[in-house]
Amino acid sequence: KVQNLIFDASFMQFQSNIPTQFIWPEHEKPCLTRPPEFQVPTIDLKGFLSGDMEAVSDACLQVNEACKKHGFFLVANHGVNAKLIARAHELMDDFFGLKLPQKQRAQRKIGEYCGYASSFTQRFPSKLPWKETLSFRYSASDPSKKTVEEYFLSVMGDDFRQFGVVYQDYCEAMNNLSLWIMEILGMSLGVGSKYFRDFFEGNDSVMRLNYYPPCQRPDLALGTGPHCDPTSLTILHQDQVEGLQVFVDEKWYSVNPKQDTFVVNIGDTFMALTNGLYKSCMHRAVVNRKVVRKSLAFFLCPRMDKVVTSPKDLVNKENPKLYPDFTWASLLEFTQRHYRADTKTLDAFS
Ligand code: SIN
Ligand code: FE2
Repeated sequence: KVQNLIFDASFMQFQSNIPTQFIWPEHEKPCLTRPPEFQVPTIDLKGFLSGDMEAVSDACLQVNEACKKHGFFLVANHGVNAKLIARAHELMDDFFGLKLPQKQRAQRKIGEYCGYASSFTQRFPSKLPWKETLSFRYSASDPSKKTVEEYFLSVMGDDFRQFGVVYQDYCEAMNNLSLWIMEILGMSLGVGSKYFRDFFEGNDSVMRLNYYPPCQRPDLALGTGPHCDPTSLTILHQDQVEGLQVFVDEKWYSVNPKQDTFVVNIGDTFMALTNGLYKSCMHRAVVNRKVVRKSLAFFLCPRMDKVVTSPKDLVNKENPKLYPDFTWASLLEFTQRHYRADTKTLDAFS
C-alpha cells in the first residue's frame, strides 16, 4: 500500500526512515564527516572594475590558475544588492512552503527543464535527489522583455506578481555579473575582454531555486548527486548552511558559504568554448539532519542557436581542436535525453 502513495522529500523529513529510492549506491554515498575545506581564490570585483592595473592582473592570474585546475572561484564586492539576495531567499521559503497542489501549478513536465520538480518516490527507481526545485528561463535577448515576470504571472497567477519582479531583478543582476566575469575570463585567456562578453550577448539562461529539506539519513541520501554543469557558467548563492562539495584530485572538498560572496564555476559548454583549457568539475550537494538548505543557481547559457566554437587563439599545435562545433540548443536536447536514460536523475542540471 505504501508504494502506492506519493512521498516527496518535504514530506519524508518527518518519517523515521527514508524510502529506498533516495538511497545512493555504496560508492556514491556521502561521508558524514565533513571533508576538508576547498581553497578557492576570491576575486575582488571592485578592484577589477576600478580598472586598477594590479587588481586586474591579479584577478586574471587567480582565475586562470583556478580554471585550469577545477573551474571554481568566489567573487566578492560583486555589487549585487544584499537586500535583493535576501529577498530572493525569503521568497524561496514562501514558494516551497506552499501546499503541494499550489506548487504543482508550475509542475515541470517530463523532458522539460523548467518548472517545479520534487522527488516523488514513484518517479524513478533510484538515486532520487533530496530536494525540490523551481527553474525558469531568463532571456537577455531583449532587455525590455521581462521573461521571468511573465513566467510567474502565466504559471502561478496574479498573486505571484512579486515573485516575478524579484526574480527578474535577480536574473538581470546575475546576467550583468556574469558578463563582467566573462571579461575576466577572456583577459585571463588572452583573447581580450570583449570576446566572451560578446559571445554571451542575448543569452538564453536558466535560473534554479534549490530547496533541500532536512533529511533524517544524510549518510544515505544526496541533495544533488555528483554532476558537472552542462551549461557555461554557474553563479551560485548558498544560504549560510554548508552542503556544496567539489571533487578534485580524487577527493571531495567542502565549498563553504562565505557571507557576501558568490560561488562561480565553469560548465561543460564553456570548457568546450575554451578548447578544454578551462575545466568543468564534478560537484554535489549533501543534506543534513537539522535545517533546510537553500541555494540560488543562475546558469549562464549561450543564445539557443549560437554555435559554440573555440576562438582561433585557443586552437594550435599544442592544443588541437577537441570538440566539434555545436549549438547550445542541440547540447541541451542531448543532455536531457542522455541523463534521463542513463543516470535516471531528473534532468541535466540536477
Ligand atoms: C548547491 O545547491 O549548492 C549546488 C547545486 C548544483 O550544483 O546543482
Ligand atoms: Fe551544479
